[in-house]
Amino acid sequence: MCGIVGVVGNKNATSIIIDGLKKLEYRGYDSAGIAVVENGKFVTVKEEGKITNLEKALSQQKISSSIGIGHTRWATHGKPSKENAHPHASSNVCVVHNGIIENHQELKNKLQKSGAKFLSETDTEVVPHLIEFHFEKTGNIKESLLATAKEIKGTFALAVMFKGHENVIAVAKRGSPLVLGLGENENYIASDYYALSENTHKIIALEDEEFAIITPDKIEFFNEQGAEIKKSVKVMEPEKARISKDGFDHFMLKEIYEQPRVLEETIQAYVDLSSSSIHLPNFAFDLKSINKITIIACGTSYYSGMCAKYLIEEIAGVEVEVDIASEFRYRSHPFREDNLMIFVSQSGETADTLAALKFAKQNNQKILSIVNAPHSTMAQLSDVVVRTVAGPEIGVASTKAYTAQVTILGLLAIHFACVKGRISPEKKAKLLQELAESGSKMTHLFDEKQLTNIKKISKSLTRAKNLLYIGRGISQITAFEAALKFRELSYINAQGIAAGELKHGTIALIDNKMPVIVIAPHNANNDLFEKTASNAQEVNARGGKIIFVSDKKGIKQFGKMANKKIEIPEMSGIIQEAILPVISTQLLAYYVALYKGNDVDQPRNLAKSVTVE
Ligand code: AGP
Repeated sequence: MCGIVGVVGNKNATSIIIDGLKKLEYRGYDSAGIAVVENGKFVTVKEEGKITNLEKALSQQKISSSIGIGHTRWATHGKPSKENAHPHASSNVCVVHNGIIENHQELKNKLQKSGAKFLSETDTEVVPHLIEFHFEKTGNIKESLLATAKEIKGTFALAVMFKGHENVIAVAKRGSPLVLGLGENENYIASDYYALSENTHKIIALEDEEFAIITPDKIEFFNEQGAEIKKSVKVMEPEKARISKDGFDHFMLKEIYEQPRVLEETIQAYVDLSSSSIHLPNFAFDLKSINKITIIACGTSYYSGMCAKYLIEEIAGVEVEVDIASEFRYRSHPFREDNLMIFVSQSGETADTLAALKFAKQNNQKILSIVNAPHSTMAQLSDVVVRTVAGPEIGVASTKAYTAQVTILGLLAIHFACVKGRISPEKKAKLLQELAESGSKMTHLFDEKQLTNIKKISKSLTRAKNLLYIGRGISQITAFEAALKFRELSYINAQGIAAGELKHGTIALIDNKMPVIVIAPHNANNDLFEKTASNAQEVNARGGKIIFVSDKKGIKQFGKMANKKIEIPEMSGIIQEAILPVISTQLLAYYVALYKGNDVDQPRNLAKSVTVE
């Protein structure tokens, strides 16, 4: 998953491209590059690391051109290095690419036989050589692009420049997102609108197997048969130009602190507390006929899906199956008529989840998506879209999007229960009240006393080699999500495990060097506190270092056995248990990463939106 940008116009292309790449760094930040055409030649500058390194290198060169392409990388084939950074070129063709060329080795062997020389370890480098191979035969940009696309297996968003065609950029799309932007005597290309939002609001999104040839004043669109196609222009609301940290040191910390506001705005958007009514988008199908729900997602979004299993089965009594997208996509699955597919994604562009969505669509399933990006591909492909109102999430480690997703899934559970006549209006009102009260309880998690305690505990965890999170019921999912956050940010091997499962093997890991964080809230409805506490006792008996996450009552009852405690408010129900304790674990992961000097907003090896399978 990488970010690509291009411009053909009348202004200095370099600054437009660099600004766009900075906005696409969430897609990958291990190396970057730019190429422009100057005096008929390609001038290419590439650097390892972040865009700032590329900017530094560019400041030592005098480049002026009004046409150029740029790339920020998340390595798939070939390590992050200057040689493997994009753009990649043959003698007369220069390319930036987002996606994976699955048959790159076979194509490389063929092209090497016709004399092509390869300088990098990437899959992408076959593309400029293949286009050149076809261009030599056809002398035609369109034909060479179509012939190349036919030979490639895999996914691509491509932007291509041709020597001798100084004011032309050609593009092609299959699987990876690609939008074009319309300017005054200038046109743009990018992986998403945000990268172009300072230059234009007039956008054209390409679909799979669509191509275009772009000049400063004209764009020709065509499909895989080469037939001209008409495309509609979408005028986007101006994106807030620069999303700031609002005085916080990191986007992640800002986004953690935004969660009470996000919760409030989510309730305002979908609930009328005075009449205890829920206003979700119209469903294009009869919910009453739904007897099974299948939730598909990746990473943190998958864990919000797992929370939904507990919420929907407990509140609405509808059977829920949850699966990770990369497995579901390639598993033979008995699709049912009365099944509803729910896809959860912050970015709405995650390739695994998108592929699973297309698979479900091919099998005539009803598709509901919960996304934080309303213009995303997933939103466009779904029958119903319920938007999380979390606002842009910049920190690669997802925080506010998670609690926003769980809140929406909680509302869906209550709504299903009403449609299924499973709960009384009083019960509905009580559940909505529980949700509404979560906001004020959330703010307590940021009290100075709590923060001082979490910072102290974080300091003690910076030297840990391994760590375990345990919990029961929906707090088991909090343990899973907390461990993922800890891994992503601290680079320490943290595992989340069902507390009851510990004694069936993992307890072998316990010794006096193993921190074990026990998520044990009291929950008014189904109290698994005692059970979780006795599992903590098993850890204590083997010298494990317990960090006990519970409310006042729980800490008073069992705190003694713990080396450290993190106090959380008492939960009045399963929805609160799903969205509150996790915030303390987000803060813990944040401060451990901070004290270890890790890059909190852009952890190594990660990217915010994973657009390759
Ligand atoms: C979470 O912190 C990670 N960034 C990652 O696991 C993420 O949740 C996953 O890639 C899914 O992304 P999505 O929600 O945008 O689909």
